[in-house]
Amino acid sequence: MENEFSSMISGFSFAVPEKILTNFDMEKLVDTNDEWIRSRTGMQERHIADESTATSDLGTEAAKKALAKAGVKATDVDVIIFATATPDTPFPSTGCYVQRNIGAVNAAAFDISAACSGFLYGLSMADALIKGGGYKNILIIGGETLSKITDYTDRNTCVLFGDGAGAAVVQPSDGTRGIIHTLMKSDGRLVDLLNMPGGGSRIPASHESIDQRLHYIKMEGQEVFKHAVTAMGDAAVESLKKAGISSDELGLLIPHQANVRIMQATARRIKLPIEKVFMNVHKYGNTSAASIPIALTEAQEEGRLKEGDYCLLVSFGGGFTTGAVLFKM
Ligand code: UT7
Repeated sequence: MENEFSSMISGFSFAVPEKILTNFDMEKLVDTNDEWIRSRTGMQERHIADESTATSDLGTEAAKKALAKAGVKATDVDVIIFATATPDTPFPSTGCYVQRNIGAVNAAAFDISAACSGFLYGLSMADALIKGGGYKNILIIGGETLSKITDYTDRNTCVLFGDGAGAAVVQPSDGTRGIIHTLMKSDGRLVDLLNMPGGGSRIPASHESIDQRLHYIKMEGQEVFKHAVTAMGDAAVESLKKAGISSDELGLLIPHQANVRIMQATARRIKLPIEKVFMNVHKYGNTSAASIPIALTEAQEEGRLKEGDYCLLVSFGGGFTTGAVLFKM
């Protein structure tokens, strides 16, 4: 089919901390084992930030690389959108820290809170800002240091999460490629299934909140799993339908990297052969807002994403939030 494009993703990259925690390292922390983690999630290792590294540090590294790839100077960036659940500080925004670090003096910078769907919410917003607002260079970063809010005494959650950041530059389309369809959905009825209860205005930090371990991720894993399978499948079906593209025409599906079984279910739902699904959850675990830009970059580096290919990005996360972006490479 013929598509009209407003915006395109013109450069993307990522950064992860050096330190790696393998499944065997996790065995020393909690009552778990490599076989359980691999078979239930597909994960083998995850990158973990050191004490002195904050989310903006990883985001800055990823942003610099993405800008270089896109050939855009920091001073030409109009907007910085930082998607994260682990901001450096409650305010100002992590986007503003990155702005300072890269010298993007002409940009507006802000954060969005959409958990694992944050990067795709950011892409959707960038597409709309270019369509309707006349903006030219938008830098989107999905970055997390989830290790800072992970309870390493809770085996239900601690094996799952990793740290990292990915960034992309979105610009007006050159007419041959670009974003075709974007989707954002939320279901606030499910806020209690995945969250961090403490540290906000409901339960500010106190000795009690720390004693009760409320500054860590809490998750009802099985429930989240069920909703994730439905929501990711629905989003993929709806995106293809609205764009008028069949799954046969799809070059690659890049789902949020939370669990191999969720990704397999999403592929089955749109009858896509598993060879057309990009997965790197075994190397990074679930990096929330960073997972899609990290996967997107690796997919390109591995030659899985070719010029002219249709690619579908789809995500699911706390809130609950769902996002999808379909684009032509
Ligand atoms: O990023 C956004 C959203 N996050 C997700 O999408 C995560 C969604 N959820 C999941 O991926 C899966 O539900 C998990 C990987 C978290 C858990 O897998 P599961 O197959 O749903 O396991 P389960 O929660 O049903 O637990 C099965 C058993 C339980 O033991 P019992 O009650 O059957 O004796 C757990 O206590 O596995 C136990 N278990 C573990 N065993 C070894 C839970 N965590 C571990 C562990 N190691 N780390």
